[in-house]
Amino acid sequence: MDKIFLTIDGHRVEAEKGQSVMQAALAAGIYIPHLCAHDDLVPAGSCRLCVVEIEGLPAPVTSCSTTAEDGMAVTTVTSRLKQMRRLAAELLLAPHPSECTSCPKYLKCELQSLIQYLEVTDQRIRKRPNMISADLDNPLIIHDMYRCITCGRCVRACNELRGIGAINYKEIDGRVRIAPVNGNLADSGCKFCGACIEVCPTGSIIDQIGVIKPELKKAD
Ligand code: FES
Repeated sequence: MDKIFLTIDGHRVEAEKGQSVMQAALAAGIYIPHLCAHDDLVPAGSCRLCVVEIEGLPAPVTSCSTTAEDGMAVTTVTSRLKQMRRLAAELLLAPHPSECTSCPKYLKCELQSLIQYLEVTDQRIRKRPNMISADLDNPLIIHDMYRCITCGRCVRACNELRGIGAINYKEIDGRVRIAPVNGNLADSGCKFCGACIEVCPTGSIIDQIGVIKPELKKAD
């Protein structure tokens, strides 16, 4: 594997050619906040929490979707980046319920951890709750899209990893949401493989009865 060298926050970092700036930073122990990115998925660059500044570029870029290059000089913490991340996090929180303790992912939720790390609250924003009742109809997966932040990880997992496409973005009541393509999971071709459960960062898609164990690696 070809090696390249870049500078991140003044540290000389070795990376593999083809890695994203975010992958290079994380591998070097430099944390860049992120949410829509996932190791197994092609980056979507949609949450914009992972913005960084790169010397020579006029505006910040998303580090998950920017390929690291030899000689690059990257800065991950500036007041402009903090403001951008704060705004991005607030936008994620707008449709999300403020109350966390009743969520099955409480204390295991990536969004909750991130919000605490960024010290962001939903006090400044106008809440736009997802008024969708949970789909409890099938015996394996609960879709509680009331908690969905539309990061799209589940859509990419279902399409890219499993090649199924049972869920996708849909416009419902004038807002873009994520939903089964044909009303419910079974009619949409869902194989109940659990890939969407594994990647969901909130408590929106969860295992109904503990059948699917995210810690178990699935065969290809
Ligand atoms: Fe990079 Fe979401 S993690 S844009």
